[in-house]
Amino acid sequence: MEETMRLENKTVIVTGAGSGLGKAVAVAAAKEGAAVVLADINEDAMNKTAQEIRENGQKALCSQVNVCSQESIGQMLTKAVDTFGQVDALVNCAGIFSSIPFLELTEEDWDRMLDINLKGSFLCSQAFIRQLLNQKTGGSLVFLSSISGYIGFTKSAHYCASKGAVRQLSKAIALEFGPSGIRSNVVAPGTIATPMNDWIIKDPKMHAQSVSSIPMGRFGTSQEIASAILFLISDEAAYCTGAELLVDGGQITHC
Ligand SMILES: NC(=O)c1ccc[n+]([C@@H]2O[C@H](COP(=O)([O-])OP(=O)(O)OC[C@H]3O[C@@H](n4cnc5c(N)ncnc54)[C@H](O)[C@@H]3O)[C@@H](O)[C@H]2O)c1
Repeated sequence: MEETMRLENKTVIVTGAGSGLGKAVAVAAAKEGAAVVLADINEDAMNKTAQEIRENGQKALCSQVNVCSQESIGQMLTKAVDTFGQVDALVNCAGIFSSIPFLELTEEDWDRMLDINLKGSFLCSQAFIRQLLNQKTGGSLVFLSSISGYIGFTKSAHYCASKGAVRQLSKAIALEFGPSGIRSNVVAPGTIATPMNDWIIKDPKMHAQSVSSIPMGRFGTSQEIASAILFLISDEAAYCTGAELLVDGGQITHC
């Protein structure tokens, strides 16, 4: 019997698909049969992800998007629908991190963090949900929170605030659009080996210190986060909405 792929006939939009978690999700979703729409501000990086997907014989469309710009999000959605007919899932992976002591945080630092990590997820989700309602289909959204959305970390108040807020954004969407067959869930990674954490990985002392706080004794991989996301956007999670999946090697189990 021929094995069916979990995301066959689905179109999945992945923001931040040029790097790290977004890239891993895009590649994994394509392997599961999805047509993938890559949306990243970094065109070169996004094109490399697309090339990898196409070399595997799978479908990828690139659209340069700044998640803070409604105009670029609208253009991406139009391109996606024109190419693939409809959209089915949105994975909000675009994001930034910076480590800044609280008293040194400027208003610009705060705005940039909240604009990309929170407002960007809001703008993409609103445009995506409008399209789902036009299509008269259900669909599914995944938001990237973090263990920083559950516990505090020093020198990252702005990041923690953005990741806590994203959890609530997802829950509110789950409530408002459950009746329309639209599911909204959160994945909260612990510390994952992506370019975002190169500054820790490249500092042996900091790396060892960081790993010592993780019961599983290592950083997670992008593929491990992609697996959790794929589950949530697939029909296997048809009854999951408003849920939050911590994928952190046990890092915050003591909290
Ligand atoms: N890596 C981790 O340990 C970790 C842990 C918890 C949560 N997260 C979250 O997961 C998400 C992805 O993180 P990552 O590790 O893959 O980071 P990354 O830096 O490897 O990739 C982020 C991607 O987002 C893109 N991007 C940044 N600003 C953008 C914008 N304005 N518009 C469109 N694209 C933009 C970048 O170009 C990049 O390709 C982030 O929201 C991050 O906060 C990561």
